[in-house]
Amino acid sequence: MYCIKEVKKLRGEITVPGDKSISHRGIMLGSLAEGDTRLHGFLEGADCLSSISCFKKMGIDIEHDGSDVTIHGKGLHELKAPSEILDAGNSGTTTRLMSGILAGQDFSSTITGDDSLRTRPMKRVITPLEEMGATIYSENGCLPMTIHGGKLHGIDYISPVASAQVKSCVLFAGLFADGKTSVTEPAVSRNHTELMLKGFGASVLTDEKNHFVQVEPEPKLIGQEITVPGDISSAAYFLVAGLICQDADILIKNVNINPTRAGILKVIEAMGGSITYLDRRTVSGEEVADIEVKSSSLHGTTVEGDIIPALIDELPVIAVMAAYASGQTVIRDAAELKVKESDRISVVTENLKAMGCDITATDDGFIINGGQPLHGTEIKTHKDHRIAMSFAVAALNASGDTEIDDAE
Ligand code: S3P
Repeated sequence: MYCIKEVKKLRGEITVPGDKSISHRGIMLGSLAEGDTRLHGFLEGADCLSSISCFKKMGIDIEHDGSDVTIHGKGLHELKAPSEILDAGNSGTTTRLMSGILAGQDFSSTITGDDSLRTRPMKRVITPLEEMGATIYSENGCLPMTIHGGKLHGIDYISPVASAQVKSCVLFAGLFADGKTSVTEPAVSRNHTELMLKGFGASVLTDEKNHFVQVEPEPKLIGQEITVPGDISSAAYFLVAGLICQDADILIKNVNINPTRAGILKVIEAMGGSITYLDRRTVSGEEVADIEVKSSSLHGTTVEGDIIPALIDELPVIAVMAAYASGQTVIRDAAELKVKESDRISVVTENLKAMGCDITATDDGFIINGGQPLHGTEIKTHKDHRIAMSFAVAALNASGDTEIDDAE
């Protein structure tokens, strides 16, 4: 149990940890590439460590020294059959991306995960992989799942969800197919896989206007030197803290502002938040900036449509921001929140209500009538990291103490 108290002033400078999505992809593509890949600024979170452990079990030598990781890749067809079950822990990204790679192997493998991951939907990757020719066993569309891989067929997959995990899974499987593989999504999801595939030497065609990506099979991937920028999904907590706290002025350094991830920055602008970009630059193919954020008087907005995939992980903390903004905020088109590490629609609603906020859960989001003072209470995280972090931020401007369960 962690206890957080209201603050009267919040000032300082922070460099957030490396981007989770890019760290996972670096491990996976580094394992399939020829020669060494060096990742600087790798996120040493449990999820990314699960990716390292799974690829080690498939015979890849990976050296891990803090945020510096070296992957001794052997080439596209050099993974070995794992002698144990692959444990993805709590990581949906490890599971879904790796399943695309496993589908292209001439061996069988089984992936499992923790209690939470074993309840999350995998049918969304099973369907396209089976269409490509893999045979997959899973009792109810959840983990554990056993993948019998082999030579795959290229497909043109129309994805029913805007999910970078699904898109990346299919594109990774496409590396092992007998022809080109494409994915068309209902809206553009984060594009780190496409950017990184290109960086490693694969041939990738993108048509962002039509939410379309195509990959050619059998590329020669070459090991890369990659600097992982700071994760905007981690910066989001400090951004919102700076906006909602009194007398706040925070400099957040080295933040990835890739437009397919930076939806929260547009929402902050729409809500009247004060943010300034400093030193915009490109790092390993990704847009990066330092961001200064100051206490702001925020007002409600509507968050909906194509922007949702660009801020899907930030919606819990955006809901917190809306609770401190005057007027109404409506968040819709975000039903995907129900299948994250917790059902984030119900968990955010339950906790914000407990703090005194006027919030209603809808089928695909929330209606929040903000601007009322919030008070500390006991927060139930349901073991979801983004709920713990969002409510640690909410606590900073709430009266009294906020206790957060299972924050570790
Ligand atoms: C991720 C994609 C998103 C996101 C997750 C990381 C990725 O999931 O929520 O935290 O790295 O591809 P979906 O693909 O399910 O939207």
